[in-house]
Amino acid sequence: MSFAGPKAVIEEGDTVILYLTVTNVYAIEAVPQIKNKKGEFVEYVFQTNFGALKVKDIIGVQYGSKVELSKGWAHVLQPNPELWTQTLPHRTQILYTPDISMILYQLEVKPGSVVIESGTGSGSLSHYFLRAIRPSGFLYTFDFHEERVQKAHDEFKSHGLGDFVKVTQRDVCEKGFGEEVDGKADAVFLDLPAPQLAIPHAVKAMKESGGRLCSFSPCIEQSLRVCEALEQHGFVDVVNLEVLQVEDIVRTRNVPVMDLEFLKHKKTDVDSKDAKTPKETKKYITSSAPNSMAGHTGYLTVAELPPLFAR
Ligand SMILES: C[S@@+](CC[C@H](N)C(=O)[O-])C[C@H]1O[C@@H](n2cnc3c(N)ncnc32)[C@H](O)[C@@H]1O
Repeated sequence: MSFAGPKAVIEEGDTVILYLTVTNVYAIEAVPQIKNKKGEFVEYVFQTNFGALKVKDIIGVQYGSKVELSKGWAHVLQPNPELWTQTLPHRTQILYTPDISMILYQLEVKPGSVVIESGTGSGSLSHYFLRAIRPSGFLYTFDFHEERVQKAHDEFKSHGLGDFVKVTQRDVCEKGFGEEVDGKADAVFLDLPAPQLAIPHAVKAMKESGGRLCSFSPCIEQSLRVCEALEQHGFVDVVNLEVLQVEDIVRTRNVPVMDLEFLKHKKTDVDSKDAKTPKETKKYITSSAPNSMAGHTGYLTVAELPPLFAR
């Protein structure tokens, strides 16, 4: 139950984040024993770059504490969607925090929102939706892959989020989202190979008062197909976005300093040539964007479905 709200102490069964360094972060289940390959219960010893942790030792410990490993130490943290995205077991490609923050903003998701998501995948995005919509909203998430549906269902339950989400196995492009959600959704999110096929079903699922739709496409051809389908089905304000993180390069540089006094005087050829030659250099901390940037994840196509009377 470690996602459902702030907690002081680690209880048996909690999902706990073991934080060693920025790039060495793990999610572990706080249980004293696990099953080995032969199906026998054995003591749960978690191996890290800084040595072993007997997991039973963290049960009863305060969240945020520093714990001993056999060759170092780590912190035990309560999970949140950001840490979960960094550590979750990947069953598919997942969405990461920079795209997700734009998705939540563009879908105007807030406490009380009813959100439809497909596909569920590894449940990375779902955890952010659940944080944003609780305590009064609901998430309907769909995937056609049986095992992914089961795993996501079990994870939401063990994270204490089961009351706010329903995971359904369904091909949403062929069969839509089902009568249960007709006219209920404030927002629909699609992360599918052929999202354009789910757009007519999204219209059916949205509230009479309208709503927002966002679709993630790894390539521009897919987002073009989405744009066409959105226009055909009455969506307006279609926008295609790409979230790119720019890491500025900060360094100290010797910068030539011009004496700008000459601007105050009438120009002569000789004077201005001389004046434009820098007289001194000064050290400055400078920041510049990199010349090239690898960072493409995908395009976010967002649009608004107007209220029924205005469609
Ligand atoms: C890239 S993953 C989604 C990842 C997810 N956004 C996350 O952050 O973890 C795409 C998922 O869509 C599912 N999928 C593909 N086509 C589908 C369809 N027609 N109906 C339902 N699910 C579908 C796949 O099984 C896969 O799990």
